[in-house]
Amino acid sequence: LRVDWDIVTAEKGGYDHFMLKEIHEQPRAIRDTLTGRVKGGQADLSREIALSPEELREIERIHFVACGTAYHAGLVGKYVIEELVRIPVEVDVASEYRYRNPILTPRTLVVVVSQSGETADTLAALREAKKAGSRVLAITNVVGSTVAREADDVFITQAGPEIAVASTKAYTSQLIAIYLLGLYLAWIRGTRSEAELAEVVKHLEGLPELAERTLQLEGAVRLLAAEIAKKEDLFYIGRGLDYAVALEGSLKLKEITYIHSEAYTAGELKHGTLALIEEGVPVIALATQTALYDKMVSNIEEVKARGARVLGIALEGDEELHKLADEVLTIPRTLSLLTPVLTVIPLQLLAYHACVARGYDVDKPRNLAKSVTVE
Ligand code: G6P
Repeated sequence: LRVDWDIVTAEKGGYDHFMLKEIHEQPRAIRDTLTGRVKGGQADLSREIALSPEELREIERIHFVACGTAYHAGLVGKYVIEELVRIPVEVDVASEYRYRNPILTPRTLVVVVSQSGETADTLAALREAKKAGSRVLAITNVVGSTVAREADDVFITQAGPEIAVASTKAYTSQLIAIYLLGLYLAWIRGTRSEAELAEVVKHLEGLPELAERTLQLEGAVRLLAAEIAKKEDLFYIGRGLDYAVALEGSLKLKEITYIHSEAYTAGELKHGTLALIEEGVPVIALATQTALYDKMVSNIEEVKARGARVLGIALEGDEELHKLADEVLTIPRTLSLLTPVLTVIPLQLLAYHACVARGYDVDKPRNLAKSVTVE
């Protein structure tokens, strides 16, 4: 009897690569990250954050500090916290933050986001913030990591071990942590009514099922990826939260397919980048933010007029984009604030399948490491 079996194949659980397995684990990771953190329709992080309600009310500003994909989660955090809590939020790449003499006071909450909890620059930023007397909350996926040990408060995401270098389920879990943080602060500080917050929480709890439905786009995405895989340059555009997701989608593609791509706020295109749009240039246009939809449509018309080949990412039931874009992928509807969790999924799948089509090593891209523990 011969059994063709090895431990790595077994760990991939039937998937060809860890990245694909981890993309598909997202509904579970979202659900587990929510578990135990919602009580009576409100987000409750009193177990994660030891600050008293009075202390939480005294926070004057929030800094998100992180690297790579975790930084992109922080960008979503700025929109979410400012919207729900009305506190000014800054987002910094850790390697910049530590050298720019940031304004830190005891009333600054510094949120470091790190999947591994071992990234050297993020750790240095954490130490800098603590030295200045600020409170540090870590959002990390690894219990007992250096970041988790050194921070004042810790939120452990429940993504489970992430093996692929390109981060997927850790990112969506970080988003969930950030939503819970925003909802918790809004509740304590009374910036939104309990009914409004309960409505957001209800939609948050609906995300695992919607993520499951979004994963069903995979067949359609694979076909589109075969075309994208032949290109050498491409653009992602979006406004508001869609811009934050565009940055993450573009990073995923660069990391594993080595295709050059750039993410732009759609409104900024006309200030330079529009010069690069010519016949056949692929543009991935994210149009899931209802309040910004009409503006996005004009931007898509702008690039179409110059010959771009547009792949739109829209909400289910969107008829208009079908008339305008060459291809459209639709994601289930939820609150605009929560869509990043779903919008990123087709972009992760696109990067994955384009990488497979190009024949590169999905889980171990060249020049990159899962955790960067040197400066
Ligand atoms: C490396 C990884 C990225 C990750 C970044 C931050 O560059 O390749 O996927 O986003 O580090 O890692 P962290 O563990 O701090 O989230």
